[in-house]
Amino acid sequence: MAPVRQSRRRFLGALIVAGGALLGVGRFLMPRIKGRQLLLTVPLGDLPHGGALVYRESRVAVIREGDDLYALSLVCTHLGCTVTVTPTELVCPCHGSVYDRQGELLTGPATRPLHRYRVERQGELLVVIA
Ligand code: FES
Repeated sequence: MAPVRQSRRRFLGALIVAGGALLGVGRFLMPRIKGRQLLLTVPLGDLPHGGALVYRESRVAVIREGDDLYALSLVCTHLGCTVTVTPTELVCPCHGSVYDRQGELLTGPATRPLHRYRVERQGELLVVIA
C-alpha cells in the first residue's frame, strides 16, 4: 500500500506545480488590468472610423469618433432596457429616451447619461474595463 500512496502524493505534487506554472504563463498572455474586471477586448482593426461595434450580450457599444475611442453601456439609465445604436444616436425602445453618440442624454424620461466604461489601448487591442 505504501508505494501507491507515495505515487499518488507525487502525482498530486506534480499537478500542483504544473497548475502553478500554467497560471504564471497565463498571467502574461492575458491583458493586464490590475484588480479590475475585463469586459471585452476589441481588435482595433475591426472598429470602423466613425462607426461602432455593438456587443449585445455584454450590452456595450465600442465607438470610434475621429481619434476618440470609447465604450458606452447600452443599459438605459431609466429602467434598464437595452438601447439601440443608430448612426446618429442611441435610442431606448422601451420609453423613448434618446442619447447622443457620446452617451449624453437628449430626451427623457431617463435623467442621466449612459455609463462610459474605461478603455485602455494595448497594442492593437482596445480593452474595455468595468
Ligand atoms: S427604460 Fe429606457 S426609456 Fe425607459
